[in-house]
Amino acid sequence: MSKSILNICCIGAGYVGGPTMTVIADKCPNIKVNVVDINSERIKKWNDKDLSKLPIYEPGLKEIIERCRNKNLFFSTEIQKHISNADMIFISVNTPTKTKGIGAGQASDLKWVEASSREIAKYSKGKTIVVEKSTLPVRTARTIKEILEASVSKDDYDSSNAKEFSVLSNPEFLSEGNAVNDLENPDRVLIGGEDKEAISLLREIYLNWVKEEKIITTDLWSSELSKLVANAFLAQRVSSINTVSSLCEATGADIKNVSLAIGTDKRIGPLFLNAGPGFGGSCFKKDISNLVYIYNHYGLKEEAEYWQKVIDINYWQQNRITEIILKNLFGTITDKKISILGFSFKANTNDTRESPAIRICKNLIEEGGNLSIYDPQVKAEAIEFNLNLAEHELFDTEAKVGSWQFSNTIIESTKNADAVVVMTEWEEFKYINWNEIIKMMRKPPWLFDTRSITNIKKAKEAGMKTWRLGFNEKINQ
Ligand code: NAD
Ligand code: UDX
Repeated sequence: MSKSILNICCIGAGYVGGPTMTVIADKCPNIKVNVVDINSERIKKWNDKDLSKLPIYEPGLKEIIERCRNKNLFFSTEIQKHISNADMIFISVNTPTKTKGIGAGQASDLKWVEASSREIAKYSKGKTIVVEKSTLPVRTARTIKEILEASVSKDDYDSSNAKEFSVLSNPEFLSEGNAVNDLENPDRVLIGGEDKEAISLLREIYLNWVKEEKIITTDLWSSELSKLVANAFLAQRVSSINTVSSLCEATGADIKNVSLAIGTDKRIGPLFLNAGPGFGGSCFKKDISNLVYIYNHYGLKEEAEYWQKVIDINYWQQNRITEIILKNLFGTITDKKISILGFSFKANTNDTRESPAIRICKNLIEEGGNLSIYDPQVKAEAIEFNLNLAEHELFDTEAKVGSWQFSNTIIESTKNADAVVVMTEWEEFKYINWNEIIKMMRKPPWLFDTRSITNIKKAKEAGMKTWRLGFNEKINQ
């Protein structure tokens, strides 16, 4: 094996592969990084001269792309060529929940991981370190190894360029919207494996910018399992605080004060205690579902039920919010215009996967509401895909209920609206001029803030009726 890594290939140019490889290329100018993908449209966007067209919106990303692209960072569809030239290959492909067959709704669909492994087995040359970057069920490295080793023929043993593989687990902990910062300043880098030399070569790469004490090395299985468990613990905090939000509304306590008060205990900590419409994103639900599936696989039923509840509470919160909106709008929203501010699953990303806005919008459309959706980064096509309903198309033509339309501005979205629902904590929603908005709204005008980020005081002074999650206006009058 070479003394250091000079050629990296990353399979998968998505939310993880793209930013992770960009930062590696930036921090390691001597390494040539090729990011490959089967999706040619996505690769075209990564290569677009106009950096506003990158397929992923992530603060700080385009500046680094500008520095490194076509110097030591390349995006391409030439998978075979770049696998052949690489001495280290990262697998960063999608691992969504299976939609059919055994384990549907819970187990991870590993078909893209298997396809990548087969490609590596076929096209790699000499000694290759294969790094699992995707989040995978514990013991997946064994499957990857089996696929890779099956490709080593007996003749290889006599050849000078014999295929040889080492499989490492190096899960990614970045969170979207903060990916560049998370990658540049990680809390830890986790490397699991058996081959000490391979571990050392991967460690060398991170040591270019990560302090030694932040690099944790473990066995393969602990590394794979830790990633699933880390996400489950984070999601559990969100579900826990969300169950407290309804109790605050019932008792007159204020969820923001409760979060602050409990978060100052260093054993609890201040982060991940913001109550909201529930966790979204491509990871939490998928990874906890997978954990539940693994528990059940090992016959650990009680533990599986315990973690399943974290997911159930998430949907409960979204349905609860829908009911609150309906109740305050006199029990019906048929033919009412509802302005939805924010559709991404959190601020600073254009990702809409599992966004809580999806379920709440679907619920409101089903109730007959006409939604006007504005998000600073999400495109109309993504909303249409998630709601499974074309813009302006009525949800049920027979009953003439519910529709949605895309808005380009907050003003357009709120004009003639009966209510404004803040779904995502985008910075610009903090500074809405309620005096201006209220003039154009139907009366009585409502503001429902599911993220507790708007200036409720100013909205009230302007004459808005307000509701914010985890706070009871009536009790606190
Ligand atoms: P993504 O869907 O954005 O990207 C995956 C990419 O892989 C797609 O562009 C797809 O076309 C490509 N791909 C699939 N099969 C391929 C093949 N055989 N050859 C070449 N390209 C192929 O997914 P993502 O959000 O980047 O997530 C990737 C993995 O990282 C998942 O396992 C996920 O759980 C994990 N992860 C995601 C995040 C996150 O914040 N999104 C964070 C940590 C870990
Ligand atoms: C998560 C993990 O944080 C990250 O480590 C992992 O690599 C991938 O999954 P991500 O899904 O990108 O990252 O975003 P995150 O910031 O964790 O938020 C997840 C969801 O929880 C969002 O919908 C967010 O709005 C919600 N959330 C988060 C809350 O409702 N309250 C909080 O206090 C924090």
